[in-house]
Amino acid sequence: MGKEKGAIEVAPIEARWRLYSERLTEYHFCSIPIQRTVRGYESMFIEVRDSEVLNVYQMLVGLVTPRPIAWVTSRSADGLVNLAPFSFFNVFGANPPIVVFSPTLKRDGTKKDTLLNIEATKEFVIHASTEAHAKLINASSAPYPPEISEVEQLQLTTAPSRLIATPRLADAPWALECKLLEIRSFGDGPIAANLVIGEVVAMHIEESILGSDGIPDPRLLKSIARLGAEHWCRTQDLFELTRPK
Ligand SMILES: Cc1cc2nc3c(=O)[nH]c(=O)nc-3n(C[C@H](O)[C@H](O)[C@H](O)COP(=O)(O)O)c2cc1C
Repeated sequence: MGKEKGAIEVAPIEARWRLYSERLTEYHFCSIPIQRTVRGYESMFIEVRDSEVLNVYQMLVGLVTPRPIAWVTSRSADGLVNLAPFSFFNVFGANPPIVVFSPTLKRDGTKKDTLLNIEATKEFVIHASTEAHAKLINASSAPYPPEISEVEQLQLTTAPSRLIATPRLADAPWALECKLLEIRSFGDGPIAANLVIGEVVAMHIEESILGSDGIPDPRLLKSIARLGAEHWCRTQDLFELTRPK
């Protein structure tokens, strides 16, 4: 039988890939199956079941890129406003408008403040992540204790939301007021997903980001996004394609 086009040839090549091991807390050379692809490259095969969580995480965030960043305000039951960025985020429909982001469990298996707040108040605001705010977005990811508001620490100004009680960042070019629909949790260990599924009930959109056609113009919005490791990216290297009819 002839070889299928695109099939992978398995070759018993000596393992020489470096992977991070939580157990050894360092990178080390490890023995994993290596295959040779039809493109002539070696390719590692990672079966998730046998892999360390941190490795799976590092690989996934390096592969699934770029990821948009939700800059999220949430409010504790006592009214303290929390702010943090989340790149496990996207929009999933418009009728009704659905957004999902995932505050994963911490390395010690406990819940992040954003998740605890949304469980308590059932609402949150997602803001634009733009070049102008890159350093503040990063700074707001510091592990402040729950009684400290990142908004106050970073001297950011808030404005009231219209349909929910959680305030929004006054300086963000767009903000989405969201009501919680449900939280779906998967796993109870470090970096376990908690899908916060929200319905967008109102949008604040500054005219500064709108083109002459009245819709957001990426050249004006200047979104930033997350890549693997410590890398981020801008979104100014654009090209256009017309959708096939
Ligand atoms: C750009 C960026 C994206 C991030 N994305 C996520 C994410 O998707 N999920 C997550 O749990 N943590 C993510 N983090 C880390 C959280 O922001 C960080 O754990 C933060 O302290 C959580 O805040 P909280 O405890 O106030 O909710 C990200 C950090 C940065 C800088």
